[in-house]
Amino acid sequence: MAKEKTIFFCKECGYELSKWQGQCPGCHEWNTLVEAPSGGRGKRTPPAPARGGSAAAGSPPTKINEIETQEECRRETGMKELDRVLGGGIVPGSLILVGGDPGIGKSTLLLQTCRLLAAKKMKVLYVSGEESARQIKMRAERIGSFTDDLYLYSETCMGTILRAVEELSPEVIIVDSIQTVFEEGIDAAPGSVSQVREITGTLLHLAKSRNITIFIVGHVTKEGNVAGPRMLEHMVDTVLYFEGDKTAMYRMLRGVKNRFGSTNEVGVFEMRGRGLAEVPNPSEYMMQGRLENEAGSVVVCTMEGSRPFLIEVQALVCQTSFPMPRRTAVGTDYNRVNLLMAVLEKRLGIRLGDCDAYVNVAGGMRVVEPALDLALVAALFSSHHGRVLGSGTVLFGEVGLVGEVRAVSQAERRVAEAVKTGYDTCILPESNRRSILQAGNLDLSGMKLVGVKHIRELLEYFA
Ligand code: TYD
Ligand code: MG
Repeated sequence: MAKEKTIFFCKECGYELSKWQGQCPGCHEWNTLVEAPSGGRGKRTPPAPARGGSAAAGSPPTKINEIETQEECRRETGMKELDRVLGGGIVPGSLILVGGDPGIGKSTLLLQTCRLLAAKKMKVLYVSGEESARQIKMRAERIGSFTDDLYLYSETCMGTILRAVEELSPEVIIVDSIQTVFEEGIDAAPGSVSQVREITGTLLHLAKSRNITIFIVGHVTKEGNVAGPRMLEHMVDTVLYFEGDKTAMYRMLRGVKNRFGSTNEVGVFEMRGRGLAEVPNPSEYMMQGRLENEAGSVVVCTMEGSRPFLIEVQALVCQTSFPMPRRTAVGTDYNRVNLLMAVLEKRLGIRLGDCDAYVNVAGGMRVVEPALDLALVAALFSSHHGRVLGSGTVLFGEVGLVGEVRAVSQAERRVAEAVKTGYDTCILPESNRRSILQAGNLDLSGMKLVGVKHIRELLEYFA
């Protein structure tokens, strides 16, 4: 019998080789080649992603205008924050990857989604390779009561799972997690890149050929990737990441790729004792516990994708007792803070060279967009001079090296959020102010817009 041939392929780009080498010839990354026994699959076998297209196998090429489209039948899950990220609900026949650190709440999120779908009389199969059916039941009891349309299945063998799907014909399947499921014919451990690639290919085929929506859970590895990173993301229709600071209570569900909707959406949840609660108004949530009229604290309106958030930015500037001043930035870019401090020194003549400076974006969020600049400058100045901005003031804007305040994107949405949350003054780049007034789309009653061109002009608004 001929010896089974071993092939190697790249974890990053999928390039296949018959011999191991340090650098991938495809993407030139180092140490990315892994062994994948071919298991009968020769080099000429089409890669798994291509098999997903076989749903339409047998039909000849068709003129674009002759193809009939039908209204996309999306189904709302009933979990509004999830529906928002998915673009309005789940699309039958789609494959959705939910990635995130272990323990962040992926299983909880999907179990709650299953509960809502089952309540709508959709047949749902939750396959878990991580927990026994009894353990899932225990988690479910914390969440609430379930209808009989949800089936739990603790299984890791793909063939057995497929047989169960055949018998049950569910409309929605959850696979928790892709790293625990294995295909028998493949001589590699579950979670290895070759297994993940194969299993995802099989699930893709299942989703497309039988019009089932499949959610795949994927744990993020130390390097920040879901196993077989690029490959998995290319194969699925939608990629959602569930993230959040372990110490903060809120969790953010971010759409990274979506073939059926915008990718710029984020959903916000809070982990409670009885599962995840939706946070429909994150600005109010983020502002909890803020002390008003304190020097060194300002409120910025930042964007996460297409969603505005009001967040508190804090700075503490004090005389240093070290030979080298200390500077830290939590929740934002350290280098940006240093740069803005240099701008403050040079353009406003404020001496910060012998000061320690600590900057913090409150609430555990990480914000790196340029619109944060003006708030950082204001917070640093406020702390250094012991002067405060009015408690109803929000600000945003990019600051350049000569101290100019530059326009930022989505200014109208930011102002609208400030109006909605009850703020009365918004300091923003002058050019943004002008375009908002020209467009005239916003109801600005009770809101004063203050346009600034240079950070110098900002100083007169401090008390
Ligand atoms: P889990 O959903 O299992 O995370 P993942 O599937 O992403 O690994 O659990 C997340 C954490 O949330 C876990 O440490 C327990 C906690 N938790 C709560 O705080 N409240 C709850 O109601 C539940 C179900 C879990
Ligand atoms: Mg889990």
